[in-house]
Amino acid sequence: MKKAFLTVAALIGAISLVGCSTNDSSISNGGDSGNQTDSGNPNTGNNGDSSNTDGSEEKAGNAIVVYFSATGNTERVAQTIAGHIDSAIYELEPVDPYTSADLNYGNQSSRVVEEHNRILAGEDVNIELVDVDFEEFADADYVFLGAPVWWQELSWVIEDFVASNDFSNKTIIPFGTSASSGYTLGNLTPLTEDDENVTWLDPQRFRSSVSDNDVIEWVDGLEI
Ligand SMILES: Cc1cc2nc3c(=O)[nH]c(=O)nc-3n(C[C@H](O)[C@H](O)[C@H](O)COP(=O)(O)O)c2cc1C
Repeated sequence: MKKAFLTVAALIGAISLVGCSTNDSSISNGGDSGNQTDSGNPNTGNNGDSSNTDGSEEKAGNAIVVYFSATGNTERVAQTIAGHIDSAIYELEPVDPYTSADLNYGNQSSRVVEEHNRILAGEDVNIELVDVDFEEFADADYVFLGAPVWWQELSWVIEDFVASNDFSNKTIIPFGTSASSGYTLGNLTPLTEDDENVTWLDPQRFRSSVSDNDVIEWVDGLEI
């Protein structure tokens, strides 16, 4: 009898554990936080498993991903983040896009070297973007902001977006990809000085060929 009772109690316990999965992150992730091997389709910004058990869509309405990428590495990371949290994703595109010749920092007369030299000389190099005004920005509490590392800072291409928007009461989560070095936020944080209650999380750097799983692990580990 005692054995039968224990078996029934164990069964009830197991059933209630199955029906009670927890997700204490304030950014929802399509109910898929525990499955880091689900590759889904990052190009769609959807991890392919965003339904709740009642069939409704669970969306991270309070987070967006905004990025610039010159050669695709940061774009891949951005898409992995957005796919994992099922958020809106926006690409920052220069009106005058960078060609591979423009990006050749080994050439002293290339566009990036010339722009960098102007920055070092104290000039304001403003790269005009196709769009800096994104529909879901106003409601976002968290803005994942990504770019390639250029000379130990996130590329100046994203400065126009940061300067043009009001980040009051938002948390900015910077991420960058680079060949080897880290970066500082020195070119970006002054641009939000006039906004109220802005939080910049620590710079997150990924290697250029970072795996999707490493990116997802970082997102899941954020205390947000
Ligand atoms: C102009 C320029 C400057 C760069 N500066 C750095 C740097 O300071 N440190 C580094 O590790 N990699 C540097 N890189 C390499 C890029 O950060 C790296 O390839 C990055 O993943 C590119 O991202 P993307 O494909 O999104 O453009 C630089 C690349 C370019 C084009």
